[in-house]
Amino acid sequence: MKLAVVGGGSTYTPELIDGFARLRDTLPISELVLIDPAADRLDLVGGLARRIFAKQGHPGKIVTTSDLDAGVEGADAVLLQLRVGGQAARLQDETWPLECGCVGQETTGAGGLAKALRTVPVVLDIAERVRRANPDAWIIDFTNPVGIVTRALLQAGHKAVGLCNVAIGLQRKFAALLHVTPAEVHLDHVGLNHLTWELGVRLGGPQGDNVLPKLLAEHGDAIADDLRLPRQVLDRLGVVPSYYLRYFYAHDEVVRELGTKPSRAAEVAAMERELLALYADPALDEKPGLLAKRGGAFYSEAAVDLAASLLGNGGSPVQVVNTYNNGTLPFLADDAVIEVPARVDGTGAVPLPVPELDPLYAGLIAHVTAYEDLALEAALRGGRDRVFRALLAHPLVGQYDYADGLTDRLIEHNREHLAWA
Ligand code: G6P
Ligand code: MN
Repeated sequence: MKLAVVGGGSTYTPELIDGFARLRDTLPISELVLIDPAADRLDLVGGLARRIFAKQGHPGKIVTTSDLDAGVEGADAVLLQLRVGGQAARLQDETWPLECGCVGQETTGAGGLAKALRTVPVVLDIAERVRRANPDAWIIDFTNPVGIVTRALLQAGHKAVGLCNVAIGLQRKFAALLHVTPAEVHLDHVGLNHLTWELGVRLGGPQGDNVLPKLLAEHGDAIADDLRLPRQVLDRLGVVPSYYLRYFYAHDEVVRELGTKPSRAAEVAAMERELLALYADPALDEKPGLLAKRGGAFYSEAAVDLAASLLGNGGSPVQVVNTYNNGTLPFLADDAVIEVPARVDGTGAVPLPVPELDPLYAGLIAHVTAYEDLALEAALRGGRDRVFRALLAHPLVGQYDYADGLTDRLIEHNREHLAWA
């Protein structure tokens, strides 16, 4: 089995390699191609990747290249984990929205729109080249904003599934609190990428007993602390929102907080420098502990599970993924992309049915889906007016003067990445 990783020079890659090495029975990789335009990073990351495989006795071959077309040739699956403009662009996304009193975040709000505009054209070009090299290859998209990027891929007819580690992270966390294995924990996870709620936590599978009330009663404080939301909010809702809901439920508090501390992009950039220095050490042959400070915990396990199922190798039968709604949430169009548990096999992902949603969740999901529609329009067709419309539609913006101020800044800070600007 041949896998290719676009953005393979990412400092995150050793996390992925560690998962590939540990879970090689689930995903028997014979060749792994790390593709990245940054040849220097690729050398460092590729070197460590080979040492991790060697240490763990993985027989697979690891190839590094900056030639995308050659790299994806013959790949059964291609993972996309790229960041157009790197951490420097992320720093901008996290900064200028604050000047307008809006949250500065890499996937939520105006910063997320900027990221979508930079990213969608690049990802579509890559996907086209993957399809040319191998029309049967599956594309697994980790590239943010995953909901919008996955929709762009599906609309263009690609064999794509979008993936995020939020659900698998919660599954692992709840399993530890309940003293059971992660495979025993099924999440009633619903929403859009980075806009989800756990409505239930079931033991043994989708029909199992819901132990969420017990989890909240016994571990509510710890769960709330992790999300940085008051315990009371969780108790009143009776569900567990993802930590991205804090940008909505505590928007103004987050804006005040972000104004007084270094951005996440700056923290990550410092960590990346440290990580690359570690990777350069030929004695290092495992993923360094420092990587755990990044947000991507368990993303390798999610990737292995999904690739195994898509390539017919028997991963978990039900996985939380991003795919077409197709009637699952009846208040959204069929071609909206949602993030829910789905049956996954060699033919793709089919969402499990979701019970009728409380308007408290349905309303926000519908609202953000409308924003995502307009964001994708803006990413595909460009133009100031389309950017403005997407921002005006966003529940965290909504007023014309905010939308205008944000539009000007978005275009100003992203000119070099926007063909139309
Ligand atoms: C989580 C999210 C990812 C996001 C990451 C950021 O893993 O699911 O979509 O990219 O956090 O982590 P970072 O360490 O870069 O802040
Ligand atoms: Mn994510």
